[in-house]
Amino acid sequence: MVDVILGLQWGDEGKGKIVDYFAPRYDIVARFQGGPNAGHTLYVDGKKQVLHQIPSGIFHQDKVNIIGNGVVLDPVTLKRECDAVAAYGIDVRKNLFISERTNIIIPTHRALDKASEMSKGESKIGSTLKGIGPAYMDKTGRNALRVGDLLDKSFISQYIKLRLKHQKLLDNFHFIEDISAWEEEFFEALEFLKTLNVINCEYYVNEQISKGKKVLAEGAQGSMLDIDFGTFPFVTSSNTISAGVCTGLGISPKQINEVMGVTKAYCTRVGSGPFPTELFDATGEELRKIGSEFGATTGRPRRCGWMDLVALQYTCMINGVTKVVMTKADVLDAFETLNVCTAYNIDGTEKME
Ligand code: IMP
Repeated sequence: MVDVILGLQWGDEGKGKIVDYFAPRYDIVARFQGGPNAGHTLYVDGKKQVLHQIPSGIFHQDKVNIIGNGVVLDPVTLKRECDAVAAYGIDVRKNLFISERTNIIIPTHRALDKASEMSKGESKIGSTLKGIGPAYMDKTGRNALRVGDLLDKSFISQYIKLRLKHQKLLDNFHFIEDISAWEEEFFEALEFLKTLNVINCEYYVNEQISKGKKVLAEGAQGSMLDIDFGTFPFVTSSNTISAGVCTGLGISPKQINEVMGVTKAYCTRVGSGPFPTELFDATGEELRKIGSEFGATTGRPRRCGWMDLVALQYTCMINGVTKVVMTKADVLDAFETLNVCTAYNIDGTEKME
């Protein structure tokens, strides 16, 4: 049986905290999409921890944590996080498992992300610049390196081939940056990655399900950032919705039980793109201040606005949400009047979709 926790807005709904809260009820916590663009904030022994790459169940030593095939993995971020987790006495070699099909983010993916954003000027996506888009492009373009390739003798030659391909693209962008320091830490992190548990995720997860184990699939970003159903092109490059759980872990839709959708009591967004209820006044400023609305990954101030029920209804529909979890309602205590959006006014006509 698989339950899902995912975001119903533009990310930053507080999913990490909710996953950490529910994790004790499950045997396995699994990330199925996204990569180090995510920033899941947890409090462990009263101390703030932000996880980008590792599932939020990692601080429960007795839970299995899986990085699924749908994720794009930055080995450098992973190593850094594993070191931080080890400081709490957690042995990731016992409770972290990585799919052999997980795609690897290489240093030139990050450079390409930066170059592509710079070339877009005013119409930039507002990417976290972690190499997400270019890494998923190499996946669908069938060029990517995967975790399972690491042990293959041809890994280095495959890497050089891909790097050269990227270099040509970077030259087209006239992008000049020395990435040798990134490469050094990348290769160091790959050696570390080789020491972790690499599994065939689809066989492993299905076997555990058939043994009666309970799986919690942890979404990253939010449904309005979904590559197909989000506010395209101002989206991320993966399927953040519940359907992504099937392709991102290798399970059948029939295995999905509860879909818990997390929403803030108001809306926030980082990066560019439409945001119908955005507040540009003192109220927006107040929401940002009281809600501490600054990006967990990039530290950027989040755009803030009132709750958008039209968008929420839409994301509940595409995810098949069975339970809604609302976070940060206490932030609204400070406001005399609360507003919610119940319809859009498009060229004088009220629309609910
Ligand atoms: P990318 O996934 O880093 O390419 O970013 C694409 C868009 O998604 C940008 O607007 C980012 O700000 C946004 N984004 C990506 N990851 C997150 C997240 O975890 N929380 C909130 N927004 C995100």
